Amino acid sequence: FREDYSDIVLEHFMCPRNVGSMNDADGEGTCGEPGCGDSLTIYIKVQNNVIVEISFLVFGCAAAIATSSMATELAKGKTIEEVLKITDEDVIEALGGLPEHKKHCSNLGVQTLKKAIEDYYKKNAHKE
Ligand code: FES
Repeated sequence: FREDYSDIVLEHFMCPRNVGSMNDADGEGTCGEPGCGDSLTIYIKVQNNVIVEISFLVFGCAAAIATSSMATELAKGKTIEEVLKITDEDVIEALGGLPEHKKHCSNLGVQTLKKAIEDYYKKNAHKE
């Protein structure tokens, strides 16, 4: 198990950042990976177009936990436009790589980030 993962992946798996739900989120999104059954929910708070708070709950494998943690770290403090440009390759690179059969796990983080932003747009459309 350990040999398959970079030190950064192991570290984020054992000590994930931004874990938890958020009651007063401005947007939230949930995605599931049908292949493995893992699922992820991301919550965001937005101020002046910037993600000021972000948290996640994941039901999944070690790589899903590490990639969710890293995806939220990459998104925190960025503008919505910047976050929409984050790719799974960015997440994998920030983690120092992922084994081939675990690459789909990073997709979950990126897709769910986009869903949370979509939800934020939906909830705030009437205010603009
Ligand atoms: Fe499917 Fe990790 S094994 S998200």
